[in-house]
Amino acid sequence: MHRIAVVPGSFDPITLGHLDVIDRAAGLFDELHVLVVHNPDKTALLPVAQRVSLIEKAIADAGLKGDIRVMSWSVGLLVDYCTDVGASVLVKGVRSQLDVAYETPMAIVNRNLAGVETVFLLPDPAHAHVSSSLVRQVAALGGDVTPYVPPAVADYLRIPTAES
Ligand code: PNS
Repeated sequence: MHRIAVVPGSFDPITLGHLDVIDRAAGLFDELHVLVVHNPDKTALLPVAQRVSLIEKAIADAGLKGDIRVMSWSVGLLVDYCTDVGASVLVKGVRSQLDVAYETPMAIVNRNLAGVETVFLLPDPAHAHVSSSLVRQVAALGGDVTPYVPPAVADYLRIPTAES
């Protein structure tokens, strides 16, 4: 059986914690879709297309093995994407009990909606404190984000914008 899993998220931007979870998930499934989901509840730093290309670059630079596809999705339910591509599993990285508490209702709803199961993976504890929101804040205030993100993201965030 060809098992397809989806790793969904905002990835605004992708962090080393995300990359670690993607690497672990790629080793568990035949085909992995890293899915950039537009979250209307969050103010975005990067356009979705930029997030996709940074994820692709991070995966290539890190030499991750496996059939990993980077996609984006902005219309409808996440489980509709899963059904469309034949994915039966969602993968989420959980850093702490807080993440488990946040993810659990979504996992139950996604299972009830479409029978899609959620697998929680534990990232390397070295990344336990890393989040995209923290990276966005450090970058916005001129701090060094290199310990938290793949080199492609650090390079991108260092490029001065027209406003700065
Ligand atoms: O990286 P994030 O922002 O924590 O990711 C959250 C995300 C995108 C996975 C979540 O917002 C989501 O699942 N959105 C899809 C909308 C949906 O299907 N909602 C209903 C079931 S939870």
